[in-house]
Amino acid sequence: MNREAHLRSATRTHYEAVPFFCGGDKRVQNCRSRSFRFFPEEALDGLRVLDIGASYGEVALALRDRGAEPVCVDLTYRAAAYARKFNRINAIQADALRLPFADSCFDITIAVGVLHHTADHLVGLKEMARVTRPGGRALIFLYSAFTPYHGLYRLSHPLRRVTSVSSVSRIPPWVLGLVRPPTEFVVGQRLNAEQIKSLVADQFWTPHATFHTKRAIVRDAQNLGLRLCLTRPSYCYGRWFLFRRDSTVSRGTPASDECGDVDSCR
Ligand SMILES: C[S@@+](CC[C@H](N)C(=O)[O-])C[C@H]1O[C@@H](n2cnc3c(N)ncnc32)[C@H](O)[C@@H]1O
Repeated sequence: MNREAHLRSATRTHYEAVPFFCGGDKRVQNCRSRSFRFFPEEALDGLRVLDIGASYGEVALALRDRGAEPVCVDLTYRAAAYARKFNRINAIQADALRLPFADSCFDITIAVGVLHHTADHLVGLKEMARVTRPGGRALIFLYSAFTPYHGLYRLSHPLRRVTSVSSVSRIPPWVLGLVRPPTEFVVGQRLNAEQIKSLVADQFWTPHATFHTKRAIVRDAQNLGLRLCLTRPSYCYGRWFLFRRDSTVSRGTPASDECGDVDSCR
C-alpha cells in the first residue's frame, strides 16, 4: 500500500470509529451566524455549495438555512449516511483528493478542518480550485504551524503509538472536566461527555495532521488561481482562508497580503 492509500485508510478507520462531534441545532445556529463573516450577503439563494469532509453536514445545513444548495462529501460512509438520513442533505462518500465532480461545478467550496488530515493538502487545494467555478469562492480552515496545539499534537505522538482511538472511551471524568471549559469556549456551546470525547479524539488521535503557515497556503493557492480575500486566525490552533477563484491569475504571481475586506469577495 502506498503512503497516500495507507493514510486514507487509517484516517477513514479513525473517523468511522469516532466521527467528528455532532453539535445539533446549536452548532448549526453557530455555524450560520459565523458564516456571515465569510459570506456577508443577506441570502445565498440557489448557490451550489460543496462541503468537503462535511462529516454530518452541520456546516452545510447552516448554509442551506441561508438558501444555498449544498452537496456534502466525506471519507466515511458513516457520516455520509447520517447526513442523508437525519439531516436530509445530499451527501456521498468520496475522497477530497479525488472529487467525483466535473470542473467548475460549484459557486462555493468549503473544507473545514479536513485538508490537514489528507496525505497531500496541495492535491486537496487543487481539487477545490478545479471544482470551484471561475469567480466562485473557496473557504478553508487549516491547522496553523507553530501554535500551542501544533506542539501538543507533536508531543502526543507517543500516545497515538501505544493506544488506539477507542481509548477515548476510557478518559476519566476528571480529565473531561479539565478539557471541558476550553473546548466549550472554542466550539461556542455546552457539550456532553460524548461530544467532548469525540473532539478529543479528533484533536489527539487522528492518525495524520499537518500544520501550515499563512504564507505557504496563500502562495500555493495563488499558484492554483485562488486569490486571497480574507484570512483570520482561530484561537491558538488554526486559520481560516477565504479565496476567490480567478481564471485570469497567472501562475507564479507573487501572493498578495490579506485584503481583510470581505466585500471584495462578494
Ligand atoms: C474535523 S472533521 C470536520 C467535519 C466538518 N467539516 C465540520 O466542520 O463539521 C474532519 C472530517 O473530514 C473527513 N475527512 C478526512 N479525510 C478526508 C478525505 N481525504 N476526504 C474526505 N473527507 C475526509 C473525516 O471523515 C471527518 O468527517
